[in-house]
Amino acid sequence: MTPQIPVRLAIHGASGRMGLAALRAAGQRSDCTVAAALVRAASGWVGESLSLALGAGAPDLDFVAALDPDTGVDAIIDFSTPDALETPLSIALERRIGFVCGTTGLSLEQTERLKDAASRIPVLWSANFSLGVALLKRMAAAAAAQLGPEFDVEILEVHHRHKKDAPSGTALALGKAVAEARRHAFEDVARYTRQGLTEARAPHEIGFAVMRAADVVGEHTVMFASEGERLELTHRANSRSIFASGAVRSAVWLAGQGAGWYDIADVLG
Ligand SMILES: NC(=O)c1ccc[n+]([C@@H]2O[C@H](COP(=O)([O-])OP(=O)(O)OC[C@H]3O[C@@H](n4cnc5c(N)ncnc54)[C@H](OP(=O)(O)O)[C@@H]3O)[C@@H](O)[C@H]2O)c1
Repeated sequence: MTPQIPVRLAIHGASGRMGLAALRAAGQRSDCTVAAALVRAASGWVGESLSLALGAGAPDLDFVAALDPDTGVDAIIDFSTPDALETPLSIALERRIGFVCGTTGLSLEQTERLKDAASRIPVLWSANFSLGVALLKRMAAAAAAQLGPEFDVEILEVHHRHKKDAPSGTALALGKAVAEARRHAFEDVARYTRQGLTEARAPHEIGFAVMRAADVVGEHTVMFASEGERLELTHRANSRSIFASGAVRSAVWLAGQGAGWYDIADVLG
């Protein structure tokens, strides 16, 4: 299915950090336009011009609390909060359009609700909309399968000092991709700490190392090492805007897909 170009996007959670970044990212592409910037009814942004938040060059639109029935939309992007999920999802279901969701912290029930919706509309949820990380995951799996068990795999992640969870969800996803490629159960081979360890490294282990410092946006390295050589695949996020631009690219892509549950890697082709 070829999407109508430009793809008309609605952004839900438009006044938040990611919503604004998605509005900026959409403005930098020629294959999409912003049709609506949705905020909650009680928001002080309702009725305010997008240019107030984005400056010159912003789409000539106001922030709105509800989608005008006459406004055509081909895909909706949500970066808000789990409590608000039903609002953008019901618009997507009613309009039969693609739903790109970057909101994290969804409950199991909400994830099931999204998967259920995917039988009727195209849905793409991802906790990390970096296309570089999506490719890194694919490359790490290919390297693990091709280099074989004589290469040890270690994963290092670095994030800013405020990050609370460790290892990062992305580091775990990379480890799972490697374990799957080697046909191992991830929890059997994941090694989260070596403090107090008295044994040598087990052959299939996937070790995780974590660093927290200052304002580092996010860095992941998957290291493959054998006797005498070492391959390191590294992704560095320099700006949070990559997540917004990845979500916008995903929405443009999703507008051309049929109903289904999609992964960010599908966008890479
Ligand atoms: N997938 C990824 O790659 C990725 C990357 C970064 C962040 N995220 C996730 O994206 C989400 C948003 O992050 P953020 O940094 O943009 O947060 P944020 O700056 O706090 O923005 C959240 C937005 O959601 C709106 N909102 C809150 N409750 C709402 C409701 N009931 N109905 C409608 N809108 C509501 C807020 O509006 P008010 O200001 O009016 O409350 C605000 O505009 C979080 O879940 C975050 O973890 C995902």
